[in-house]
Amino acid sequence: MARKVLILGVNGFIGSSLSWQILTRTDWEIYGMDMSCNKIPHCIEHERFHFFEGDITINKEWIAYHIRKCDVVVPLVAIATPSLYVKDPIRVYDLDFEANMQIVKQCVKYKKRLIFPSTSEIYGMCADKEFDEYSSNLVLGPIPKERWIYSCIKQLLDRVIWAYGAHEGLDFTLFRPFNFVGPKLDDINDAKEGSSRVVTQFIHNILHGRAIKLVDGGKQRRSFTFIDDGVDAIVRIIENKDNCASGRIFNIGNPKMDFSIRELAETLVDLVKTYPDYKHLADKVVFEEISSEEYYGSAYQDVSHRVPSVREAKERLGWEPTTDLRTMLKLTLDYHLLHQDYELNALQTK
Ligand code: UGA
Repeated sequence: MARKVLILGVNGFIGSSLSWQILTRTDWEIYGMDMSCNKIPHCIEHERFHFFEGDITINKEWIAYHIRKCDVVVPLVAIATPSLYVKDPIRVYDLDFEANMQIVKQCVKYKKRLIFPSTSEIYGMCADKEFDEYSSNLVLGPIPKERWIYSCIKQLLDRVIWAYGAHEGLDFTLFRPFNFVGPKLDDINDAKEGSSRVVTQFIHNILHGRAIKLVDGGKQRRSFTFIDDGVDAIVRIIENKDNCASGRIFNIGNPKMDFSIRELAETLVDLVKTYPDYKHLADKVVFEEISSEEYYGSAYQDVSHRVPSVREAKERLGWEPTTDLRTMLKLTLDYHLLHQDYELNALQTK
């Protein structure tokens, strides 16, 4: 019988891409819930995709019923935007922790396989050159540095899920996305200063003739991962061939994509210049250095470097990311500047 996968937050950045890969690569059925469906027009039309418009904090009966009905549960609903960790930490706690813990407990109760999104943020300010799932320390700042609430919440969720696995037989996998980037990340039209992840913010600023703000000079580094590469790993986790993913934690990132935020900004500006309709905007863009305190407030603290070890994902999932920085940014820009139909474009170029 075809596998039934429940995806909560199916219209999100990861949820929408994951659904599309599942529908095109497998024979699985998807039951998906979200508050809107603007990112999944092609999925909605598909016979193996069953969408319900709802909210995980309200439609609890629908969720309980579908956890019982499905084989695998992938709860992707969470606030994952740093500016909100400092602006509205209680909301982050209520949604990311409280609402998700109820889902975790139902997976334990109904003995369902749980694929849970941990985060690269969990390593915090770890000093290791490469972050390892099983040996790296998780290093967070003091309590008034509210930025760490998200990392701390995710850490406790990871620990509780791990404990349910070890002591009550929960079949789980934790995966840690490292700065996934691609079409549909955040809404570029709505990228008010500081309200979206860095790539979307920079594209928004270029298109609106605003300065690119380099927080603390843009020396901090991230390992960016193209969404299709990242989601490929998640599909392999759900597939769980020979139980390769059960009870394991996987960093999903691209160690070859370790760039400073300044390098990211320069590459983006360079690429926008290759789009004739937008070249004039890229030509006149200016970089402005700003302190993190001024940009995010005093409750913020940054991560200076973040490179994943992907040995575990390579060995167990046979997975390796392949997309380089320019290709990733070009595909993202094509989506925003040329056409808003990434799936169709991906199909046509295959
Ligand atoms: C992100 C978020 O916490 C989550 O989305 C996720 O869990 C995780 O990391 C991930 O995607 O792996 P962060 O990497 O700090 O955290 O997210 P961004 O908001 O994309 O910022 C990246 C860096 O760019 C930060 O150092 C930030 O200060 C800088 N930045 C951001 C700027 O220099 N200028 C801006 O306009 C925006």
